Order: sequence, then C-alpha cells, then structure tokens
Amino acid sequence: MARTLITGGTVISASGAQASDVLIDGEVVAALGRPGHFADIASTCDRVIDASAKYVLPGGIDVHTHMEMPFGGTSASDTFASGTVAAAFGGTTSIIDFALQRTGEDVRDGLAAWHAKAAGNCAIDYGFHQIIGGVDDAALEAMTYLTEHEGVTSFKLFMAYPGVFYSDDGQILRAMQRAGGLGATIMMHAENGPAIDVLVAQALARGETEPRYHSLTRPVEMEEEATHRAIMLARVAKAPLYIVHMSAQEAVAAVALARDRGANVFGETCPQYLYLSLEEHLSKPGFDGAAYVCSTPLRSRGEGHHDALWNALRTNDLSIVSTDHCPFCMKDQKELGRGNFSKIPNGIGSVEHRMDLLYQGVVTGQIGLARWVELACTTPARMFGLYPRKGVVAPGSDADVVIYDPRGTTDISAATHHMNMDHSAYEGIHVDGRVHTVLSRGRVIVEGDAFTGSRGHGTFLRRGLSSYLL
Ligand code: URP
Ligand code: ZN
Ligand code: ZN
Repeated sequence: MARTLITGGTVISASGAQASDVLIDGEVVAALGRPGHFADIASTCDRVIDASAKYVLPGGIDVHTHMEMPFGGTSASDTFASGTVAAAFGGTTSIIDFALQRTGEDVRDGLAAWHAKAAGNCAIDYGFHQIIGGVDDAALEAMTYLTEHEGVTSFKLFMAYPGVFYSDDGQILRAMQRAGGLGATIMMHAENGPAIDVLVAQALARGETEPRYHSLTRPVEMEEEATHRAIMLARVAKAPLYIVHMSAQEAVAAVALARDRGANVFGETCPQYLYLSLEEHLSKPGFDGAAYVCSTPLRSRGEGHHDALWNALRTNDLSIVSTDHCPFCMKDQKELGRGNFSKIPNGIGSVEHRMDLLYQGVVTGQIGLARWVELACTTPARMFGLYPRKGVVAPGSDADVVIYDPRGTTDISAATHHMNMDHSAYEGIHVDGRVHTVLSRGRVIVEGDAFTGSRGHGTFLRRGLSSYLL
C-alpha cells in the first residue's frame, strides 16, 4: 500500500488551524504529527508532498449536484465523468447527487438508473439522495428500503414544479412521517409552485418574457411561505428537515426561528445566492440573463439578501454551502426559453468553484478558516451520514485531502473550466486562493493544472443517518 507524507502545511479543521504533517497509508490517514515528526520515515514513503505555506484541508463535499439529470426539456450537461473531474479540480472529493423518481415510477428503478449512470464513471466518491416525485404507498415503502439497505438516507421533495416533481402538503406530511420514523432527512425545495405558476402565466400574458421575469414571478414570499409551511409540517411529523438552495433572507429567518426553538431544521445556500443578483446578472441585456435562471431565483441585491446569507453562514442559521450544480449550455439548452423565460432550463453549474468562491468569505473576513472548512467539508459529512469517514483529516478517515495555496489566484472562465458548459456564471472573476493538489482516498488526482486521477476511481458512498441532529 502506497504511503504518502504531506509536510510543512497547516491543517485546517472545523475547530481550527494547526501546523501538522500528515501521514497517509493506502486510502486512509494514518497519523498527524507536529512538523518534522515523521522525518525519520520520510525516506520509506512512496511520496512526500511539500505543503509549506499552504493549507491542508479535508476534501470538499458538495451535497447538492445534478449530473445528467433530465430536466426542463433537456438534461444537465455534465455527466458523472465530466462533472466529477471538474469537482476534483475545485477541491471537492465527494458529491451527493440526486437520484430521480417521478410520479408513476418505481423509486428503486430510479435509484438503479442513477447507479448505472455513475458506476465506473466517477473520478471522486459519490453518494445519492433520492428525489421522491410521486409520494404513494410504494414510494413510502421504498424510503424505508433505501434507508435500511441502500445507504440512501435523505429524500428530496418539491413544493415547486407542479406536474413535474411537485408534492402536495398531504403527500409531504406522509413522506415526512416516514422519514421521521426512520431517522432519515427530508430535503425540501421550498417554493410555492402552484402560486408561482399563476404569476408566471400572468407575466407571460402581459408579454413579460425575458429571463429576469423568472425571479420577478418567484417573489421572496413564495420561498418564505413554503419554508415556513415545510417547517410546520416537519414539526408535526417529527422529521429532520433540510431546506435546499435558500436565497431569501425572510426564509432563512424562518429556519433561524425553528432552530432557536430547538428543531432539527437546517438550511443550505449556494455560491450563486452569495455572489450573483437579479440586477447585475439575471437582468443582463437580451437573452444573456438566461445563464442565471435557477430556482430559487437570484435575488435583488438592494434588498439585503446577500449580506443576510453571509451573516447566516457565520451564525449557523445556514449550515452548508453546496452548489446545486445543474449545468445547461446556452446553445440548444438555455435557448429553449428564448421568448419565454418559463421554458429556460433551471440551473447553474459551479461544482468546480465552490471551495474557491466560499474561500473569498475568508479573504474578506466574513467567515474564518475553520468555518470555511466546516461549511464546505465537515458539516456536509456530518449532516448526511459520512462522518468521520469524510469531512476531516484525522487518523482512520479517508485520505481525501486538498492542499490549498492561499497565495495563489484563480481566474474563472468557460475557456479554462472543466465543467461541460459553454459559459460560466462567474466569467472573468479573479479570486484569491488556488487548489494546489487533491488526493482522493490516498491517490493524487489533481496536481496543479493536471488531472492525474481516473474515471472509475470514485466509489459509491453508502451513507448512514445524519450525525448532525440536535
Ligand atoms: O434551478 C435549479 N435549482 N435546478 C436544479 C433543480 C432543483 O430544483 O434543485
Ligand atoms: Zn430544488
Ligand atoms: Zn437542486
């Protein structure tokens, strides 16, 4: 078994920073020691990596991706192969993607289809949540089976997208009751879909067809109301609840209130809601704003959402930053909605940039180094049953390690990114910090600009129940 020694770096964990050398034996971390501690055995190691002046982090975990997902009349443009290579370049060494079941389909068939897409194709480890798009008796039974036998312990429901993935309140309550009994987590897309559909139809009837109307027809109240309703239903059902892709400060306030009351309610946000806005991006002239159509939508900067989200990341009212990576090319995909914003496939791709973009919060002082790692690596592992195998650099943990250069810089562009997208939502942005080296289960998979891993290295992660519950 190959032994690797990482010397001279500062190991960052969710609890702080410490100058430490890291010894890796095969696929796992064998030991951490003070600088120089392993000098005597360095010559016996297969590889010594100098991490001087660099941070040594647990590999990032992106708990919200949609590789190859059929959606919006097309399919997300990253395959598991392309998307996981892109993730690796950005310092993410595990993803949790969403297997899909629609009304009338068998949940276990949906999961099997996702296994077929991913198996043998991933560069990094991967797990699945299960979307339940049709709550019925069979789907509820499948929730039990997946939790107890398949290592799939979280289930996404939709209060949005009527006719596609939407569940009504009765269905949601039943699924939550099942999850509560199992100790599984309900992930909620919290937007009032039926009301949004009315607003969309009215806007189109007025001739309001440009991309920015996507946000204007999904007002804050639609997210706030649905978030509150989901929290109330979860309270009745006694189920852990995780609200995905939060963008409205009023909705975050509902999560904060529930958390203050001691409920197992959690929220995530995504880089697009921290950096991009209705005015600067979704309202770009012509059809350019289509690149920024996602749900929940980008919000108005003037209303204070962006600052409020950063603050919620500080206070743990929001616990995780994922990407909701759901890429579509402009050509042939986003273009489906030219002349009708409601036909623009919803989604932004950024699996490659999450670690760098969140690190800007460290650069600007909005979060500390330990919080960066907590939000991007450690809490994701704890929330979704992967800890301590993932999410920490500690003896016995998988040797998923990112060596991060705080003095490096990263220029984001479609010309250089590895995602299968013909544009970037962050085109031309220059950020501080750079992923230097990435190890996945002890193997170096990214070195500078080179991918040294392989398709198929990534293995399926059977997850346990959340270890983050109160
Ligand atoms: O716009 C989004 N969020 N697309 C992906 C599907 C979802 O709702 O997460
Ligand atoms: Zn969603
Ligand atoms: Zn999503």
